[in-house]
Amino acid sequence: MSTVYLNGSYLPMEEACVSVMDRGFLFGDGVYEVIPAYGGKLFRLSHHLHRLQNSLDGIQLINPLSTSAWQKILDEVLERNCEQTDASNDQSVYLQVTRGSALKRDHNFPDRVTPTVFVFSNPIEPDPVSTAQGIAAITLDDIRWQYCDIKAITLLANVLLRQQATDHNAAEALLVRDGLVIEGSSSNVFVIRDGAILTPPRGEQMLPGITRDLVLELAEQHALPYRETDINEDTLRQADEIWVTSSTREIIPVTSLDGKSVGDGLPGPIWKSMIELYRRYKDAVRSGTVN
Ligand code: PDD
Repeated sequence: MSTVYLNGSYLPMEEACVSVMDRGFLFGDGVYEVIPAYGGKLFRLSHHLHRLQNSLDGIQLINPLSTSAWQKILDEVLERNCEQTDASNDQSVYLQVTRGSALKRDHNFPDRVTPTVFVFSNPIEPDPVSTAQGIAAITLDDIRWQYCDIKAITLLANVLLRQQATDHNAAEALLVRDGLVIEGSSSNVFVIRDGAILTPPRGEQMLPGITRDLVLELAEQHALPYRETDINEDTLRQADEIWVTSSTREIIPVTSLDGKSVGDGLPGPIWKSMIELYRRYKDAVRSGTVN
């Protein structure tokens, strides 16, 4: 049985309960992070905690914990759950902070309410078929709100978009707003054109992915040409390669878009170079040479 952290206690997941008046439950009033951990080592933790702070600022909620307190809790949850899984110890840690529970349901922020802090972890289960063969994606209108840079738990639009993709036998929906591709329903997007790695620039319309930023960092370090630039639908459809990135799926090639092959329909050569760099970076984290 896995151990979770809830408001100061470590307990079995089955015993963890929050109030039905919790604003996360009633309003989706909270934010979250998903942090991979390889060999028990949290991956890019400072980046995730920095983004958490931005999300909390974005919803005007004071961070209930210091950086060291977060680290301690995340490590503790990880350690307790790693002991019970196989040797690889690769986990993804989920943390969530909601505005807490008030006695009365009221849209206004309540006074003097303690935020709810919840952490759990799961084994990361990479899908070798998606990585080796690529996935299918479809394009959909981006129906989400205007603050997609906040990692809010309010994910109904993302859920509906992803389900639409699933219903079309696709593993991701690429979201288009005003003719520009923004990101996936739970991933960032990259397009390869004429040998260059292109990805939309940061802004309120998309989540600044930690995996996305690492891909750009690796491209810079290894002199692979890249650009943060608007990507219109035509560029997307003429792409030589398309990738989606996230903490749980890492870097996955999209080999079919709206039922048509992307490039020659196989994971492309630039993806192969990038996934190799990413795996080397992961191994360095696992062995403690990089944190
Ligand atoms: N989601 N864009 C959206 C909308 C996302 O939900 C995610 C990740 C990303 C990629 O961000 P990162 O590289 O930091 O994981 C981009 C997580 C994994 C989730 O909701 O489970």
